[in-house]
Amino acid sequence: MNVIRRKRRLAPSVYEFLIENKHIVRYAQPGQFVVIRLHEKAERIPITIAGKEGDCFRAVVRAVGKSTYELCLAEEGSSILDVAGPLGRPSEIDLYGNVMLVGGGVGIATLLPIAEALKAKGNRLYVVLGGRSKEYVIMLEEFSKIADELIVTTDDGSFGIKGVVTDGMQLLFEREKIDIVWAVGPTIMMKFCSMKAKEHGVKIWVSLNPIMVDGTGMCGACRVSVDGKIRFACVDGPEFEGDRVDWDELFKRLAQYRKEEEESLKLFIQKVGDLSWL
Ligand SMILES: Cc1cc2nc3c(=O)[nH]c(=O)nc-3n(C[C@H](O)[C@H](O)[C@H](O)COP(=O)(O)OP(=O)(O)OC[C@H]3O[C@@H](n4cnc5c(N)ncnc54)[C@H](O)[C@@H]3O)c2cc1C
Ligand code: FES
Repeated sequence: MNVIRRKRRLAPSVYEFLIENKHIVRYAQPGQFVVIRLHEKAERIPITIAGKEGDCFRAVVRAVGKSTYELCLAEEGSSILDVAGPLGRPSEIDLYGNVMLVGGGVGIATLLPIAEALKAKGNRLYVVLGGRSKEYVIMLEEFSKIADELIVTTDDGSFGIKGVVTDGMQLLFEREKIDIVWAVGPTIMMKFCSMKAKEHGVKIWVSLNPIMVDGTGMCGACRVSVDGKIRFACVDGPEFEGDRVDWDELFKRLAQYRKEEEESLKLFIQKVGDLSWL
C-alpha cells in the first residue's frame, strides 16, 4: 500500500507522484484531499488528490518546508507510511453553463479533476493559468485538451500574457457571460480572484489551505471564518465561497508557526545537504 509508482518533476521544486492506494482511487471525488505521514516521525500534511491512474492517485507537491521537502525527496518504489482519506467535501459539480477556472502554482493540479468533472457535465470551460514564468505553469497539455479557451499569464511575460491571473479573468469577464468561478492557488492569489469575481457579481469557489493536523474535524487547527462563522476547512471545506472568507485572519493563522518551520527546515537541510537542485 501507498507505494510511489511514479515520480516526475513538473517544475522547480514541484513533483508529481502516482501513489498506489485502491481505497483512495475508489472513493475520491474532485476537490478532496488526503493527509499524508511519510514515516513514523513525520508530521501529517494535507495534499490534494489531483487525479487517478489505474490503482494510483496523483499528488502534486511543492517543496516549501521540511515535510514537503522530505516528500519531494522520496524515491520511486518507496512507500508512504500513512495516507488518510479521501477527506473534505467534494466540489459542487453541476451544469452551470460558462465556468471560469483559475489556477496558480500547485493549485493548477488541484483544479484538474474539478475541471474534468465540470467538463463531463457539459459546462464550457474558460481556464486561466498563471505562474512566475513559463516553467512554473504546470499541466498546460492537460488543460489545453479540456479547456474551451485557455489563457496563460506569467509575471515576467515569458509565456502568454504578461501579468497576473486576475488580468486574464478581467479579459474574460469583459467578453463572456461567466456563470461561476473556481480559483485554486496561493492564498494571496485566491483573495484577489475573489475580489475580482465579486466586482463582476459572479459566485466564486476557492480551495483554502489552512494548517491542518488530523483533517477529520477533531481539533479546529484548520478553522477559518466564513460569513462571520467559524468553519473547519477539513470537514466543512476545503472549498468555500471566496467573497465570504476572512482572508486577513487566514494569513495570520498560516504564519503562526513560521519561526518553528524555518528552524525545522534549517536542521533538515543541515542533515541532507543542499536542496536547491530539487
Ligand atoms: C486541503 C489542503 C490541500 C493541500 N494540497 C496541497 C497539494 O496538493 N500540494 C502541495 O504542495 N501542497 C498542498 N497543500 C499545502 C501543504 O499541506 C503545505 O505546503 C504543507 O503542509 C507545508 O508543510 P511543510 O512542513 O513542508 O512546510 P512548513 O514548514 O509547515 O511551512 C513552510 C512555509 O509554507 C507555508 N505553509 C504551511 N502550511 C501551508 C499550507 N497548508 N498551505 C500553504 N502554505 C503553507 C508556511 O506559511 C511557511 O511559510 C494543501 C493544504 C491543504 C490544507
Ligand atoms: S485539521 Fe483538525 S479539525 Fe480540521
